[in-house]
Amino acid sequence: MPSFSARGSPHKQQQYQRRRQEIRQQRKSLPIASVEKRLVDEARKNDTLIIVGETGSGKTTQLPQFLYDGGFCQDGKVIGITQPRRVAAQTVAKRVAEECNDQLGRKVGYSIRFDDSTSNATRIKYMTDGLLLREALLDPLLSKYSVIVVDEAHERTVHTDVLLGLLKKVQHSRANASKNGKTLPDVLGHSQNLTQKSCQGSRCAPLKLIIMSASLDAKCFSDYFGGAKAVHVQGRQYPVDILYTYQPEPDYLDATLVTIFQIHLEEGPGDILAFLTGQEEIESLERLIYERARLLPPESSKIWVTPIYSSLPSEQQMNAFKSAPAGTRKVVLATNIAETSVTITGIKYVIDPGMVKARAYNPVTGMESLIIIPVSKAQALQRSGRAGREGPGKCFRLFQESEFDKLVDSTVPEIKRCNLSNVVLQLKALGIDDIIDPVGHQMARLPLDPMYSKALIVSSELKCLEEMLIVVSMLSVESIFFSPREKLEEARAARKGFESSEGDHITLVNVYRAAAECLEKSKNANAKEKTMEKALNRWCRENFINHRSLKHAFDVHSQIQGHVQQMGLNLSSCGDDMVLFRRCLTAAFFLNAAMRQPDGSYRALATGQSVQTHPSSVLFRTKPDCVIFNELVRTTQNYIKNLTRIDPLWLAELAPQYYATED
Ligand code: CDP
Ligand code: MG
Repeated sequence: MPSFSARGSPHKQQQYQRRRQEIRQQRKSLPIASVEKRLVDEARKNDTLIIVGETGSGKTTQLPQFLYDGGFCQDGKVIGITQPRRVAAQTVAKRVAEECNDQLGRKVGYSIRFDDSTSNATRIKYMTDGLLLREALLDPLLSKYSVIVVDEAHERTVHTDVLLGLLKKVQHSRANASKNGKTLPDVLGHSQNLTQKSCQGSRCAPLKLIIMSASLDAKCFSDYFGGAKAVHVQGRQYPVDILYTYQPEPDYLDATLVTIFQIHLEEGPGDILAFLTGQEEIESLERLIYERARLLPPESSKIWVTPIYSSLPSEQQMNAFKSAPAGTRKVVLATNIAETSVTITGIKYVIDPGMVKARAYNPVTGMESLIIIPVSKAQALQRSGRAGREGPGKCFRLFQESEFDKLVDSTVPEIKRCNLSNVVLQLKALGIDDIIDPVGHQMARLPLDPMYSKALIVSSELKCLEEMLIVVSMLSVESIFFSPREKLEEARAARKGFESSEGDHITLVNVYRAAAECLEKSKNANAKEKTMEKALNRWCRENFINHRSLKHAFDVHSQIQGHVQQMGLNLSSCGDDMVLFRRCLTAAFFLNAAMRQPDGSYRALATGQSVQTHPSSVLFRTKPDCVIFNELVRTTQNYIKNLTRIDPLWLAELAPQYYATED
C-alpha cells in the first residue's frame, strides 16, 4: 500500500502528481526498461546470472524492482543488493523507495555498518558488501534472501571478492539442502556456538545470484561461476571529445583549477565533474575555486561547487544531485565514487587528472597505507563516459596522450594490495578454513578491525574495557574535532580543555566523558529528548566538537557495548590509573610502536619506516621518546596519528613474543 497519498491542497496534489509522472517517465526511458522481461526470465532460468551495462543504464535502481515484481519475494523472502560504498547504498535506497512511492525503511531499505533503516517489511534491501559478510556469520545460509545481487563487481573490492567466494559456497549448500529437504544443522561445517538457522523444505530454495558490472569484461566472473550466463544491457552513450595536455602537469590540483575556469569562461552551458583523490584535495580546491570566482567579471555566470566523497555527511552529499539554479554552473568535485557508483545528472564536462587514492600493503614492512597512484585505462574510460550521458560532452585529461597508453588496463583487485588480517579472520569464522580459534571467532563478530577487537578483549582482561570501548568508538568515526579556518585559535583553545599530556587516546576519552556528562545533566533536569539534543548541540558548538561525529560515536559505543556484553567481557574501568590504561593501549597496539630519532622524526619499530607525528596530535610538539599510534597516513610524508606516550620497556614486557630482548 502506498504510504504517500495525495492529500493537502490542490496545488500540493498537482505537484505530487507531476513528480509521480516524472518518475514514471524517467524509469521508462532507462535503457534497462526495454529488457525487463528478458532479465526476469533469465533470472528464473539461471541460478547465477551476470549483467553488464553502462553506468546510468538503470541496473542498480531497476533490477531489484523487476525481480520484486517478478515474484522473487514471495514467502517473505528478501532481495539483497550489495554495494562497495555506504553512500551508494543510502542514496540508491532513498531513490528506489521514492520510485516505489513508499517510505524508506518499509518495502525498500538500506543497512550499512552502524546505520540500519530496514524493518520486517523490507523486501528490497541495499547494503554494503561488508555488512552481508557479517550477516553470513550469523546465518551461514543467508536463508532470508531469495536473491543476492552483487553490484559494482568490476570494482573488485576485497569484500566483493570474498563475498563472491562465499556466495558460491552458500549457493551450493542451499542447493544441497533443498535436495535433501531436511534440516541441515551444520551445512558449512561451523562450530556449534554460532546461531544456526534451520533450513527446511521450501525455506531453503536455491539462492539466486546476480553479479552486476559496468565494465565489459564479464568473462572472469562467468568463468568463476562455471560459465554463468552473461547478459549485456545496451547503454546510451553520446560522443565524448577527449582532450589531453601538451605538457606533463606537475601540479594536477592547480591544473584542475585552471581547467575549471577555462571551461566556465569559454565553453557552453553544462555542469563540470572533476575527479580528485580525497577529502583534503576536494576541500582545498573548493576554497580555491570560490576565491578565484570572486575575480570573475560581474556579468559572467556564477559557480556552485558541490563536493561528494564517502565521508561527507549524507545531507551534504545530496547537494551533488541537485540541479544548479538558472545561470549558475555546477562544479562537482568527486572522488572515484562518481565513476560508476552514483549517477549525477547534467554533467557535460569531465576533468580527469588521472589519479586515484588506493590502499597499498607492503608485505615486507607489514604496513598498509593510502597512496595516490595513476588510474587504470578502464577507470579513465569510465570517467570520460560520465560526460556523454545526456548529450555530447568533453573530457579533459590532465596528462599527455602518450601517458594514457602507459596506464595499466584495469585496476589490480584490492585483495592483492591490502592487509588481509580482517578478511582471513572473517573467512575462518565463516568456516572457510577448518581451524577456528575461539578468540578469532569472537573478534570476527565484532564489526571492527581485528586490531580494535583484540584491544577490547585485552582491555577486558586488564580491567579497563570502559575506557577502551570509548577509544574504539571515537576512533571509528570521522574527525571529532572541528576547526573552522576562520576560528583556528578559538578551536585550539577549546581543545586545550580536554587535552591529556599522555596523548590523543586519553584526550578522546575526556571529550566523550564531558559530552556524556552534558547529556546526563540535562537528563537529570528531566529535560525532554529535544531539549537534551539542543543542549548537546550547543555544547559541541562551544567546544568545537563535530556534533555529527560525536553522535555517531555514541551510537557505535552503544552497539559495541551490546556485542561485548553478549560476549561476556568484563566492563570495568581503570578509574584514574592512566598508567594502567596506557599499558593496555601498548598491549593492544604494540605492532604500531614508534621511537623518536635524534632529528625529531620517529621510526616505526615493526617496519623500520621513518614517520612524523601528525600536526593534529596533542603530542605533536612534546615529542615523547616512545609512542603507540593508530593510523599511518601517507601523503607527502609518512604521518602517524592518534598517539599515546608509552614506556619502551612495556613493549618487551607486554608483547614479549614480538619484542623479546636478549638476556
Ligand atoms: O546502476 P546503473 O549505473 O546502471 O544506473 P542506476 O544507478 O540504476 O541509475 C539509473 C538512473 O536513475 C540514473 O541515470 C538517474 O537518472 C536515476 N537516479 C536518480 O535520479 N537518483 C539516484 N540516487 C540514483 C539514480
Ligand atoms: Mg549502479
